[in-house]
Amino acid sequence: MDLANLSGELYALRDTALSAIAAASDPARLEGLQVQYLGKKGELTAVLRGIGGLPAEDRPRVGAIANEVRIALEAAIAEGTEVLGRAQLATRLRAEAVDVTAPGRPIRRGALHPSIEAMQEIAAIFAQFGFVVYESPEVEDDATNFQMLNIAPDHPARDLWDTLYVDIEGYLLRTHTSPGQIHVMRSTPPPIRALLPGRCFRYEAVDASHGFEFFQVEGLMVDRGTTMADLKGLLDQFAKAMFGAGKRTRFRPGYYPFTEPSVAFDVECLVCGGGGCPACGRSGWMTILGAGMVHPVVLRNGGLDPEVYQGFAFGMGPERIKMLRHGITDLRLFMENDLRFLEQFP
Ligand code: PHE
Repeated sequence: MDLANLSGELYALRDTALSAIAAASDPARLEGLQVQYLGKKGELTAVLRGIGGLPAEDRPRVGAIANEVRIALEAAIAEGTEVLGRAQLATRLRAEAVDVTAPGRPIRRGALHPSIEAMQEIAAIFAQFGFVVYESPEVEDDATNFQMLNIAPDHPARDLWDTLYVDIEGYLLRTHTSPGQIHVMRSTPPPIRALLPGRCFRYEAVDASHGFEFFQVEGLMVDRGTTMADLKGLLDQFAKAMFGAGKRTRFRPGYYPFTEPSVAFDVECLVCGGGGCPACGRSGWMTILGAGMVHPVVLRNGGLDPEVYQGFAFGMGPERIKMLRHGITDLRLFMENDLRFLEQFP
């Protein structure tokens, strides 16, 4: 091996390597070439092994050429890596680009269920009169749902509340929110101004005006010297806030075992304004709730002395209020979860 041969080999290696580097189309390939030519077991190293066979005075010359070749290859690989890297980044940026000007996908907005919405409206009105919302259990014992409310087990008035019983002896699904009166009286010293909204259940054949599941909002006020006049004034104010300031209202005698006297409370028909139409059965009035003065027996069952405290209570159906206001004729719509109906209450 002589100097000319060895340097010729080095230059040939350089040219092959440079064209391979120039042709490389991805960084991994460049890394491979780096190992192939410049690595410990690479081709440049292999050629340099021939140096040992040269006369000592020629060795520096070959060393210089080898260095020159190594620098040239390193530079070419470094440049190639950078160029390819930049191109790869550009491709990725193009592929992953997000069009921030594209319109968003609309989010389907939920809304309150009309029964819940009605209860919130009712609660908001009574809040202005100082009424506070309480909760009372849906699974109730027979005593609190009936006996404490002055409804004896064999009382014919029980037929007003056909009952769904649960598997535990003595327990049932509350048929109205009135048992909440007992819970509030037993836990809260008067003066009491309580509102008890909640779900109720009855063993009913379902039709346009009866459901086995519905809501009620119970109201209870107890204080010294509370009178029927307070009840009438409050409910009249409520009806005017709910249905319109000019609406006339009236009270009719009613019957509930837990109130005495008991009344039905009507507002003038929202459709005909009192003239009489099919919506109000030609009477000109629509009944919106039942009410009365809390029966002394019930006050006593609530732990209060009827000689000291008097009170009134009322119970209304939020669905019924919505029906009257919006001209809805079928109660079943509230529990069927048909979005075409529900979406009409934004
Ligand atoms: N609990 C009665 C019902 O379910 C309504 C009511 C409540 C009547 C309070 C008077 C007083 O029909």
